[in-house]
Amino acid sequence: MTFNPLKEKGLRLEKQLRNWHQIVGNPYKKQHADCYTRTRQILMNGIEVEAWGFKHQLNRFMQNLDFEDRVNLSRIGRIENQQQITCNWLSPADQSVLETTLGYEQVAVDLTAWLAQNEPDKYVKETFNFGLLEDFDHLYRYAQYAYMQEGVEPNDIVKGQTDVIVGRPTQHHHNCNGLRLRKNYDKNTATPQTKVNILTVLSGEQQTHNFYAEHGFMYGDHVLRETYAEIKDVEEEHVTMYESLIDPNETMLEKALIHEFTEVCNYYTCVEDETDEEIKKYWEIFLDIELGHLQTVAEIFKKYEKRDPEEVIGSEIVIPCRFKSQKAYVQKVLEKEVQKRLAPNGEYYNSMEEIPDDWVSYDVQKKVAEISSPSENCINVVEFYNDRDVVEASETLKNKEVQILEQGLQKKSVAQNTVMPDKLQDMIDTHEERKQEKEKLI
Ligand SMILES: [Fe+2]
Ligand SMILES: [Fe+2]
Ligand SMILES: [Fe+2]
Ligand SMILES: [Fe+2]
Repeated sequence: MTFNPLKEKGLRLEKQLRNWHQIVGNPYKKQHADCYTRTRQILMNGIEVEAWGFKHQLNRFMQNLDFEDRVNLSRIGRIENQQQITCNWLSPADQSVLETTLGYEQVAVDLTAWLAQNEPDKYVKETFNFGLLEDFDHLYRYAQYAYMQEGVEPNDIVKGQTDVIVGRPTQHHHNCNGLRLRKNYDKNTATPQTKVNILTVLSGEQQTHNFYAEHGFMYGDHVLRETYAEIKDVEEEHVTMYESLIDPNETMLEKALIHEFTEVCNYYTCVEDETDEEIKKYWEIFLDIELGHLQTVAEIFKKYEKRDPEEVIGSEIVIPCRFKSQKAYVQKVLEKEVQKRLAPNGEYYNSMEEIPDDWVSYDVQKKVAEISSPSENCINVVEFYNDRDVVEASETLKNKEVQILEQGLQKKSVAQNTVMPDKLQDMIDTHEERKQEKEKLI
């Protein structure tokens, strides 16, 4: 039987206030947590931040609503705020910024890969695949620092579920803003799945950006600080890219409906998938709360727009965040699309060979990396610690690393400190030789 959120009552808005003890729950244990419990927790924090922020935009833009409706919308905003605390503060105090960062990029990789495979709109799917390979490379760059600064191995966090290896190099993610803007969907023909998919990944990317903005300065290592600044700027591009897929003709109340529906769908998926029984209780309560929000917003929508909410969100739940290992899919996209770039005339994609010499993104990339590219420096620095970069993948994929780098690099324009493929091969060979020497000594 299908689940129709519009037919569910959920928890009434007047019943949704919780006490401080309930709002601030007990964190999971970082040593024992399933990596996908962490990714759900990170994503749901992002979803709540967006839900809260949007409610304030709504209150600012729609002051002409009846007083009672404004009160209800601001009440919902307050509940989103309290849910955000619960979600974010489920992360344990002993989880470092870099460890959490690896969690954020694991969210981006495995979430976007799931969405791409479940996205009915081909153009949107292509955009998901494009963004995916950029976050995949971020995971690899941060993994170098987690190892150097804190002795954290990638699998301490990603638990073998997500590969950590070079992707489309981060230095090539910086683009002219005009090229990042995508074509938007048509609100009258887009499926509810497309609307929810986009808002879900957008919320995740926005919170990733916010997390780097608020935490990147917490390390003393200057190259790491610059790496956070560089990747934060890419997340800004990701927010721009994903939000531009949304039809700007949606009304504010239509958007409000999509927001509550997106929250319902995400919590519904969390309840279905959660393996930690303690954490699952929060997802169950929050699903009930969101169904209550959806009811309230659906009534407001009907009152002012004289339309059926089903026209906007359909009559069935959609599944936007089924976290599971996506290694095979990601590897396929990596091998096929690492050389893809934003087309010079906007909206589409080109292979690197089709990019003209006067591509406007070259100007952006040259400017920001005119001294050096921090995300390349992290490989230069890790060489001192480990002879080569830190990689976690099957032997078959590891053996293709130099080839992937060769395909992903824009030879026409690279930062002067770039680790070129022959250099990476030397690092790998040195690491192998020294590993054998070390074994002899022992
Ligand atoms: Fe919420
Ligand atoms: Fe990222
Ligand atoms: Fe991203
Ligand atoms: Fe909500």
